[in-house]
Amino acid sequence: MSNQLIFKGTEDYIVSDDLRNSVNISVALSRPLLIKGEPGTGKTVLAESVARSLGLKLIVWNIKSTTKAQDGLYVYDTVQRLYDSQFGDHDVSDIKRYIKLGKLGEAFTSEERVVLLIDEIDKADLEFPNDLLWELDVMNFYIPETGETISAKHRPIVIITSNAEKELPDAFLRRCVFHYIDFPNEEMMEEIVYVHFPDIQKKLLHEALKAFYWLRSIPGLQKKPSTSELLDWVQALAVGGIAPENITKELPFLGTLLKKNQDFDLTLRQLHSRGMDGREREKDKYFRSVMRGY
Ligand SMILES: Nc1ncnc2c1ncn2[C@@H]1O[C@H](COP(=O)(O)OP(=O)(O)O)[C@@H](O)[C@H]1O
Ligand SMILES: [Mg+2]
Repeated sequence: MSNQLIFKGTEDYIVSDDLRNSVNISVALSRPLLIKGEPGTGKTVLAESVARSLGLKLIVWNIKSTTKAQDGLYVYDTVQRLYDSQFGDHDVSDIKRYIKLGKLGEAFTSEERVVLLIDEIDKADLEFPNDLLWELDVMNFYIPETGETISAKHRPIVIITSNAEKELPDAFLRRCVFHYIDFPNEEMMEEIVYVHFPDIQKKLLHEALKAFYWLRSIPGLQKKPSTSELLDWVQALAVGGIAPENITKELPFLGTLLKKNQDFDLTLRQLHSRGMDGREREKDKYFRSVMRGY
């Protein structure tokens, strides 16, 4: 193979062999890598890790509900041009000045190969992925206003993320290398936490993980806590000087993990059914009053 870019991983990112392979297959085949998984499974930071590991610049295109495929190519700033024609001393006949490249355009025109992250593609409407297919395939696009064709100097490595709920169009899926990141099991999560807090007390982490996975297993939670919340929680527990043996009993700083009122109530009911002593019941009352204030 002429092209020897191999993703090996980085110290700050815990990657399974499967995921590492998927990245390398996508790079070797020059196909976009589509990463799905529930929030907090490390989709966004994967792109950062890939870029760092390969020594390439990362360009991030954050997708919002209003994002259109065209935004990624270029926009023609007619407002600025009009403004300049009235008040400015620029030559407004040079339309090129008013063409602003989007993230895809930026990736194509980059002097060096880059990693392009198209983050949370499912936020846009259903047409969006299909609208991008052509440009991602041929790696060029035409700007009618200037008669210019923008072609990729170097094919970017494209990583696309999507939260698990929404289905993407078949034609789009066919062109991607697909990988689903499972929510990390306890063992892997332990490694992930250590990456972020290398000095965390072992016993504290074990108890926190036990409580965290118990919480996630409660049926009917509206928003299960994910990795980001766990990382915040572990930090709160450490800073708060919480004794490890109290973690599963009392679930201190529960508001770091749960963001919905109903989830809070549900969890406290479950805690009750596991049995609480008087002090915890007092705390429970307190929690409820705090949550009502939300
Ligand atoms: N495999 C991992 N290795 C290290 N940190 C991770 C890993 N997975 C998730 N994290 C951490 O969890 C948090 C959420 O990750 P993020 O990439 O934003 O998730 P997603 O984009 O899937 O919602 C970040 O702080 C990230 O550093
Ligand atoms: Mg993300």
